[in-house]
Amino acid sequence: MRDFFGALRADIAETKGDAYSEGSSVLIADIAELVTCDGPGETAESALGIIGDAALIHQHGEVVWIGPATEAPAADRAVSLRGRTMVPGFVDSHTHLIFAGDRSAEFAARMTGVPYDGGGIATTVAATRAATDEQLRDLLHARLAELRRQGTTTVEIKSGYGLDVAAESRLLGLAREVTDEVTYLGGHVVPAEYRSDRAAYVDLVTTEMLRACAPHARWVDVFCEPASAHAFDGDEARAILTAGMAAGLLPRVHGNQLAPGPGVQLAVELGAASVDHCTYLTGADVDALVGAADTTVATLLPGVEFSTRSPYPDARRLIDAGVSVAIASDCNPGTCYSNSMPFMIALAVREMRMTPAEALLAATRGAAKSLRRTTIGRLAVGGPLDAAVVDAPSYLHLAYRPGVPIVRALGV
Ligand code: NIG
Ligand code: FE
Repeated sequence: MRDFFGALRADIAETKGDAYSEGSSVLIADIAELVTCDGPGETAESALGIIGDAALIHQHGEVVWIGPATEAPAADRAVSLRGRTMVPGFVDSHTHLIFAGDRSAEFAARMTGVPYDGGGIATTVAATRAATDEQLRDLLHARLAELRRQGTTTVEIKSGYGLDVAAESRLLGLAREVTDEVTYLGGHVVPAEYRSDRAAYVDLVTTEMLRACAPHARWVDVFCEPASAHAFDGDEARAILTAGMAAGLLPRVHGNQLAPGPGVQLAVELGAASVDHCTYLTGADVDALVGAADTTVATLLPGVEFSTRSPYPDARRLIDAGVSVAIASDCNPGTCYSNSMPFMIALAVREMRMTPAEALLAATRGAAKSLRRTTIGRLAVGGPLDAAVVDAPSYLHLAYRPGVPIVRALGV
């Protein structure tokens, strides 16, 4: 009982062996609350698709049956969740997980009132360029282990701390070793060596660097923030995104983080899958996001506002207007060095006034939509067993017990 996760891991390892070698079915029983995130979308509560006192059967890693425990058919093996909750694995759809160096002093300075403007990114670029592949791989794997221990099963990873042709494509190659959701972010900031000729850097990002990076990536992203001297304005961002799209990459955008700006409108116009941050929005931005709700998700990153002591995005305004919303960690050394999705859920509820149901949906099904993925972020018959276990009788504990390690990716 005491080491619940350890015992569960051992049980699952054992049953998985059987499932793969003999095709046997495994019943996961005694689930106090099975949150499928696969219910009808009329309200957040109905979209959660909760089944109380539930069971699930999987075979070859695929879910083959879900329902009330009393109706469960027989299976070859059984594992008991002993009254815990099961949710879809969290989808962290926005991270900058590959970097070296340390910027804790920048965080400490910010807590005394120094504002964030993106200038510290240069520190991380220097440390990352100087690191070996092995060092970067070790750092990446340590961060991946951390997030899995907190329930995340899918992670998007951006480049953006290389900012030259070789360094950007190296970061994407490393990201590709661990996830399919790889994002080319050569357009993160203008590096120091191009500060006197920004156009030359945009040219590099849209030609030679893009050619080297596109084969490793699925997405193209840009830090569109005219309020930062380091980031890109609307025209530069458009050039970077359209070049990426012409090379076969799908667009996503960092926009409206530090001030109102063109990011959201550009994302909607280009049919981006996601526009991330959305902290400073005009009425026209919200209207554009409502009109694009089938295509473009507004991804909120409340860990950034927490770690930069900034005003939170107005999640209620977005949700009440009908915008598609996701939450993600944005784990990075500057604005949020946390990869904890349960912490983001707690912030979404406490600070952004999302209901616990809305926050869990945004961290699973909403974030999956922002990656144009349909089988993750939900638990459904025919889909993968891509789940996390909460050591609590209901999913409400995710927001109710911030900072307490009660959730893990299944099998971790
Ligand atoms: O998403 N805003 C731009 N990029 C990151 C921060 C990167 C950094 O400061 O190292 C973000 O917040
Ligand atoms: Fe980011």
